[in-house]
Amino acid sequence: MKLELDRISKQYGNKIALDGISLELQEGIYGLLGANGAGKTTLMRIICGILNPTAGEVKLNGTNNIEMGEDYRDILGYLPQDFGYYPSFKAKEFMLYMASLKGLESNYAKMRTEELLQIVGLSEVANKKVGTFSGGMKQRLGIAQAVLNDPKVLILDEPTAGLDPKERIHFRKLISSFAEDKIIILSTHIVSDVEQIADQILILKKGNLLTQGTVMELTDRVRGKVWECVIDNSELEQFSNKYSIVNQHIQNNQMIIRVVGDDEPDIKNKKVVAPTLEDLYMYYFHENEGRM
Ligand SMILES: Nc1ncnc2c1ncn2[C@@H]1O[C@H](COP(=O)(O)OP(=O)(O)OP(=O)(O)O)[C@@H](O)[C@H]1O
Ligand SMILES: [Mg+2]
Repeated sequence: MKLELDRISKQYGNKIALDGISLELQEGIYGLLGANGAGKTTLMRIICGILNPTAGEVKLNGTNNIEMGEDYRDILGYLPQDFGYYPSFKAKEFMLYMASLKGLESNYAKMRTEELLQIVGLSEVANKKVGTFSGGMKQRLGIAQAVLNDPKVLILDEPTAGLDPKERIHFRKLISSFAEDKIIILSTHIVSDVEQIADQILILKKGNLLTQGTVMELTDRVRGKVWECVIDNSELEQFSNKYSIVNQHIQNNQMIIRVVGDDEPDIKNKKVVAPTLEDLYMYYFHENEGRM
């Protein structure tokens, strides 16, 4: 299976939201990282065929997604960022409703609903109203509805928004369990959500695909460019202006900052440390600091 984005651009009025994105995706999990407004949702909606690009096209195995029509929707699962739940629906009713929208046969829909509610851990609340659910339960229901039709292409727009740490771990396992033979794209602001499960990381910045690669390949780019430095508390502000600081903490009454950049910081007490994906993210986005 090959999903191809061919020079996708999107303009809203004169705002360029996507600026010529080309990409080839195969079975695997793709983590789409980018700051607010980078274009993640726009790109995902175009991949789903619910938004037309201004230029370029999406092709599945060589055929344009919009031309594929129903055939494309049959293999697609989508969790929108602004997914509207129906608070007065019960979980099971909601799933059956979504199944009917997807055109699933009713006996199959019932069986699949039961199976999925089980998988996402909502069996016991199948007859409770969605309006009473926590954020995490709603997200799990959102993921369950997205995979009702056992999609080959699964698009999840910020599926971990509102999840607590335990739910995030559960979510990662859930996604991995669905991943076989699928193309999964999930967007997030949270690097750790994809660091462990994504086969490929895509970084989107201001409508451009800045870089892509495995976590290892990407972290390698900042190898030797990440330092931990011991500074004096009073120097923090000065260094904050000068360097991109990934992290800061106090240990044994000393201020320790984690710095990423091309230039070795002009600080006496420092050591090079192993890079993480978060360091790379900061390396690319540092000028947006405070506005991410
Ligand atoms: N319908 C629209 N009309 C005009 N501008 C839009 C519209 N939708 C999105 N934009 C603009 O396009 C850019 C990309 O938006 P998009 O929602 O795709 O970003 P995002 O990466 O999903 O952001 P977030 O992380 O906040 O969800 C932003 O500058 C946004 O303001
Ligand atoms: Mg978005």
